[in-house]
Amino acid sequence: MALRTLDSLGPLAGKRVIVRADLNVPLKDAVITDDGRVRATLPTLTTLIAQGARVIVCSHLGRPDGAPDPKYSLAPVAQRLSELLGKPVAFAGDTVGESARQTVAALADGDVAVIENLRFNPGETSKDAGERAAFAGELAALGDVLVSDGFGVVHRKQASVYELAELLPSAAGLLIAAELDILDRLTESPERPYTVVLGGSKVSDKLGVIQHLLPRVDRLLVGGGMMFTFLKAEGHEVGKSLLEEDQLDTVLGYIAQAKERGVELILPVDAVVAASFAADAEHVVADADALEDTPFGASGLGLDIGPRTATLFADAIRDSKTVFWNGPMGVFEMPSFANGTRVVAQALTEVDGLSVVGGGDSAAAVRQLGFQDDQFGHISTGGGASLEFLEGKKLPGLEVLGWQ
Ligand code: 3PG
Repeated sequence: MALRTLDSLGPLAGKRVIVRADLNVPLKDAVITDDGRVRATLPTLTTLIAQGARVIVCSHLGRPDGAPDPKYSLAPVAQRLSELLGKPVAFAGDTVGESARQTVAALADGDVAVIENLRFNPGETSKDAGERAAFAGELAALGDVLVSDGFGVVHRKQASVYELAELLPSAAGLLIAAELDILDRLTESPERPYTVVLGGSKVSDKLGVIQHLLPRVDRLLVGGGMMFTFLKAEGHEVGKSLLEEDQLDTVLGYIAQAKERGVELILPVDAVVAASFAADAEHVVADADALEDTPFGASGLGLDIGPRTATLFADAIRDSKTVFWNGPMGVFEMPSFANGTRVVAQALTEVDGLSVVGGGDSAAAVRQLGFQDDQFGHISTGGGASLEFLEGKKLPGLEVLGWQ
């Protein structure tokens, strides 16, 4: 069965349309530091507004504990959405209570409201299917149909993602359709050479995807904190750099598999090693086989790939026809350790083919480093979701919309 899309819902004028979005944006002191996920919802929302639907937007933000917590309020997001849409957006101070009911009842055709964080309600993320169904029932009472468009959360079996889509007539929004269109091109006969660049801090988070991708890619480039587990597996000392001892055997297995399959596994040849984890920490460049031969000895911390590695990676990326990148190459938030991520991002903008940036951290990184979204083939709004998709996992939030 194919994904149900917006047109399957019929005319929506005058209907109460719940849009399950992923507005889980990074906030600092209630200020949004990257509004990419809010902007990504606009095509669906403007389409619904133009049709005269009464639009009720819902989302999670962060991981509150099933109870209201002002730190995770969607109020600043509703405000930003109103600026981007150029029209008022009503805000309900609860999710399924009196405020939500009144706010929805006051909507006219073409109006938009945001209801408060779904995860302020324990039923949203409950492990108990009955509790999730009960909360989904309360949500369903607010609307006539559901447009599911939170791609970043389709890997979660949660009330608004799964049970609600079973209760109401439901279809995928334009964002989910666009994400699938691109990610499908990565899994179904990608143009070659096909290169995957993985970074970020934890190897264990990426194990599934490495396993699944090794038989499919031509090159695998490993940077970020996870590179040190690979370097250690190759016999290098890594000082106090991030290391997942318990993954060493698995990583050794990947190194052997890559060799057998003829996959070019490109590991860092140098790294930026710092005296401590601080923006102003003293730092030097060291070869990958001499990470402890620095003034900081065995207490040095690798915080970025080195310049030779960055060039090596950039050459491999530019020479590819399809590139998927997930995870920063270093601690890009600190300017001294942002070079690797910047060089890799730059190389992705120069790919003559399809370049995809996957995941919240990598998307935030490229924007923070001054790149524009349209310099890349696609910036996915899904972190865990895009990785699990590439792992070939069945994603509940997509299956419930007919995707197979
Ligand atoms: C994300 O940031 O990847 C999505 O919004 C999902 O959030 P979660 O990992 O808290 O479920």
